[in-house]
Amino acid sequence: MTAREDIIWSALPLPAFILDAENRIVEINPAAEQFVNTSIRTLKGAQVWERLAIDALLPDAFAHVRANHAEIVINDVDVSAPRRPPIQCNIQIAPLKEAEGTLLLLISPREIADRLGRAQSSKSAAKAAIGMAEMLAHEIKNPLAGITGAAQLLSMGLEGGDLELTDLIVAESRRIVKLLEQVEQFGNLRAPERRAVNLHDLLERARRSASVGFAAKLHIVEDYDPSLPPTYADGDQLVQVFLNLLKNAAEACDRAQRGGTIRLRTFYDQSIRRRRADGTGLPVPLQVEITDDGPGLPAEIAGDIFEPFVSGRENGTGLGLALVSKIISEHDGLIAVESAPGRTTFRISLPLAPKQTEDD
Ligand SMILES: Nc1ncnc2c1ncn2[C@@H]1O[C@H](COP(=O)(O)OP(=O)(O)OP(=O)(O)O)[C@@H](O)[C@H]1O
Ligand SMILES: [Mg+2]
Repeated sequence: MTAREDIIWSALPLPAFILDAENRIVEINPAAEQFVNTSIRTLKGAQVWERLAIDALLPDAFAHVRANHAEIVINDVDVSAPRRPPIQCNIQIAPLKEAEGTLLLLISPREIADRLGRAQSSKSAAKAAIGMAEMLAHEIKNPLAGITGAAQLLSMGLEGGDLELTDLIVAESRRIVKLLEQVEQFGNLRAPERRAVNLHDLLERARRSASVGFAAKLHIVEDYDPSLPPTYADGDQLVQVFLNLLKNAAEACDRAQRGGTIRLRTFYDQSIRRRRADGTGLPVPLQVEITDDGPGLPAEIAGDIFEPFVSGRENGTGLGLALVSKIISEHDGLIAVESAPGRTTFRISLPLAPKQTEDD
């Protein structure tokens, strides 16, 4: 490391590990020493799994990052170190250029971020902003309807440049209404009404609606495991999840005028679990992947895309993925993303329907 990199590395408040191609610890920063409660001297050369237990899709995540040279972000997973209870974190795994197979593992624990008053404060600020926005949304929609109506009346006697201006008022007002509706929807999300549902039926509903609308120009490929058992979910809410992901994929491909194929894949993976509040592991073996061949996540926001109001698009609200993450978490599921130019995959992991509900 250069002197400057060294300063940044030491000052970084989030635990960071550099791993070699065999997942041995090469370097850790002071925040990580504190996190695992051990000094770098005793950690160098140790297998990272001896020091950290991460409760998610990790077994193959590392291999993926190495094989595809693409960064992965996994949200809301439990990470535990020796002699401490598991805590909720977001993790980022990125390939490093210095040597083949070298990885950076960055952990953003909610707790530490909280103590440092960083991510958490922006999170609770975002929450407060949503509460406020919901209230305002309601108040703004009425006068806005008045403005739109008045502009439409005015436009009747107008032509040319003046008509263009009233049209602009109408169009922009409509855009504000849409945005307000999205904010309201985010705040009003009802508790899921869960029953045994077939994921392929829901994917098919989302695919059909996407391909007559925003994804009309895209090629959608299906790669389903037909033996996939039902999950336990609110069908309408999951269709919303798939639609939001398909929409983002379509917008990414469109924006970059690059690619235009979306792959929907389902499969079963027994090994993936989510930790519940009582500490037991809940298997989430049903996997749905949505992959596009667009330009990939913008690097500046890659670690924050699931937060509300984080958007990389000019007219984006930044609520699409926040809603996805909220719905999946209320379904006891997991969501992860893996992204590189030409290949971005969102993976959702869901639990099985309890046996007695399958006849619903
Ligand atoms: N498949 C993807 N490929 C590339 N970038 C993506 C993809 N999905 C999401 N993103 C990035 O993540 C950002 C956040 O997505 P999110 O759906 O939360 O908000 P949005 O699409 O900007 O706005 P909204 O969905 O509320 O209209 C997007 O603006 C985009 O920059
Ligand atoms: Mg979106």
